[in-house]
Amino acid sequence: MGERIVIAPSLLSADTARLGEEVQDVERAGADWLHIDIFDAHFAPNLSFGPQTVADLRPLSGLLFDVHLMMTHPLEYVERFAEAGAEEITVHVEAEQETDRLIEAIRSVGCRVGLSLVPKTPPEAVFPYLDRVDLVLPMTVRPGFSGQKFMPEVLPKIAAIRDEIRRRGLPVVLQADGGVSEQTIPELIRAGVRVFVAGSGVFGQQDRKRAIERLRAVARAALLP
Ligand code: DX5
Ligand code: ZN
Repeated sequence: MGERIVIAPSLLSADTARLGEEVQDVERAGADWLHIDIFDAHFAPNLSFGPQTVADLRPLSGLLFDVHLMMTHPLEYVERFAEAGAEEITVHVEAEQETDRLIEAIRSVGCRVGLSLVPKTPPEAVFPYLDRVDLVLPMTVRPGFSGQKFMPEVLPKIAAIRDEIRRRGLPVVLQADGGVSEQTIPELIRAGVRVFVAGSGVFGQQDRKRAIERLRAVARAALLP
């Protein structure tokens, strides 16, 4: 696992009446990736954005678009989000379609592959796929909304996935999503996380530049021995 820290503001917490400006604002503020949550009102009880939103934002930003599909049937949408400008697509191991097929579909459109699991799913659920994914996202809240309380009980699961990745010498990075803050980053770093999604922690802040700098500084400090 590389030691690069990635800060990925989550579009779900942006002012949706001003999406383009919001994305440009966090890009200027020093974000590394843009995390884009897609809901289907079934996998999680919410709706958010569609491929058209991603396509409209694409020419406005140079950020890596990290699309998180919280969908029961994501397969049909992989190609559409890739065409819209996604560079990384994450699907859930709990989706009602074969994980192997989903991974293949994401690879075949040339995107980086992410595999996510909800808080109640055990770590072993992703082990069979670790050699075929770029990123694993153990969610630290239940999918659906920004601003929820971080679930510390997920930390041992993240560490278990980290241990398996290390044991097998794989180049997979761990991402955390939900309740990421200056308070929770140190323990996430210790569990192996290097990619931090932050909704309210960035878009919810007045001074986004300072917010991103603080999150990055706390992460870097926690990396030191
Ligand atoms: C939850 C989403 C998150 C959310 C995080 O379903 O996947 O990306 O926007 O928001 P915060 O950082 O406010 O918990
Ligand atoms: Zn997400």
